[in-house]
Amino acid sequence: MASDSFRNARGTRDLYPDDLLLIHHLERTAIAVAQAAAYREIRTPLFEETRLFKRSLGEATDVVEKEMFTVPRRTAEGAEPSSTSDPLSFTFRPEGTASVVRAYVQGGYAARAPLQKWYYVGPMFRYERPQKGRERQFTQFGVEAFGAQSATLDAEVIGIALDFFQRLGFGDQLEVRMNSMGDPQDRELWRDKLREFFAPQFEGDDIERCADCRDRFTRNILRLLDCKVPRCQELNAGAPDLFDVMNQDALTHHQQVGEALRAIGFEPKEDRSIVRGLDYYSRTVFEVHYPPLGARSALCGGGRYDGLVEEMGGRPTPGVGFSVGFTPTELALAELGLPPAQDMDDLRAQSAPQVFAIAVSAEDRLPLFAIVEELRKAGVRCELDHRGKSPKAQFKEAAKSQARFALVLGPDERVAGQVVLRDLQQKEERKVAAVELAATITQALSAT
Ligand code: HAM
Repeated sequence: MASDSFRNARGTRDLYPDDLLLIHHLERTAIAVAQAAAYREIRTPLFEETRLFKRSLGEATDVVEKEMFTVPRRTAEGAEPSSTSDPLSFTFRPEGTASVVRAYVQGGYAARAPLQKWYYVGPMFRYERPQKGRERQFTQFGVEAFGAQSATLDAEVIGIALDFFQRLGFGDQLEVRMNSMGDPQDRELWRDKLREFFAPQFEGDDIERCADCRDRFTRNILRLLDCKVPRCQELNAGAPDLFDVMNQDALTHHQQVGEALRAIGFEPKEDRSIVRGLDYYSRTVFEVHYPPLGARSALCGGGRYDGLVEEMGGRPTPGVGFSVGFTPTELALAELGLPPAQDMDDLRAQSAPQVFAIAVSAEDRLPLFAIVEELRKAGVRCELDHRGKSPKAQFKEAAKSQARFALVLGPDERVAGQVVLRDLQQKEERKVAAVELAATITQALSAT
């Protein structure tokens, strides 16, 4: 069989050990910023019943209409048909919020301990056209905070996203765009006004709006406002503003989020075109963009979803969160030359062997292997040759491995119950009793 017969599926990626240096760094940074704000990890399954996503994200969203990885349920499973008219199927999660809210309700938190702050890092699946910054399997880091409608919680959540990017070395190249979606009754009023305003643009034979917008006009009118086609954007000028019909509580909330962000040293940028692609949002919505990435420049999106817990069958409980996509974040980092080369070397060194063990003769190999295993058990990262290489070639490998120590076992040392420990940095060597080896190495490593 030809070696190129199999390839990974379009829109997916193999992450090789060197790629994972950066991915692990992103994961560790995500966990650190979330834990600093007292968020705890939640893990939900990678797939759910399809109707969960339809109900929470909205039937008329791009994600639900076009991008779901759905698998029909096998009829032989024998369970009762679902309570809805939907044929039961499963969908690989296109995002994390729906599953987390489901788990929150199912776990009884809405009734028992509504105040919960959770984070997750894991793969999501969207059947999109793969392009720069967009994959079919991608990783999101997200947080979801339940049980408080206070503006400081919105600001805390946005602050975590910013902290993540700051710790990765992004300076002021990022834009944080913020808006409010008001409350449901505000959106109803606003939708009516938008329909009135936009209707003439969709009448007659010479409609100037793009094909997507024609669809949005009937299915999801708010999405007209975030169309990326320049002519459509021009035609959006003068559209009714939600803020003109927004209730006072929601307006005050929005102002307070701004104040809370300013209190933590951040000036938010108001952007009325942020309406988000998912239906569950209310009040605060925000996105973090790296503009050089063009039309797909959003690294992070999020906001409030105060009605979603109730929609999922729980007690009315407010919620707010965000998700960062690793894919566009990696692209932006690469463009900025981040992390610095020295940081990448440090990351590589953290997984490189600390000791490389060298056998002088064939008879030394097995005893050396036993010594190496002992060192590994003592927590020392230790490597040795498995291919019968000459001592000279083993020394070369030791130098290449960037190990701090070479450990040499020859016939004389073996008889004396010793090994030669060579410090490859300090270029000095000494004999150490085999029984003291682990302690000697651990001490030397912790001293530097
Ligand atoms: P979203 O805006 O759909 O929101 O996705 C969040 C981020 O995930 C995007 O800004 C982008 O960085 C990344 N992303 C989305 N699709 C892809 C893709 N195909 N390839 C690579 N990256 C992608 C949500 O998912 C909401 N659950 C966010 C949220 C959490 N809202 C409240 N809580």
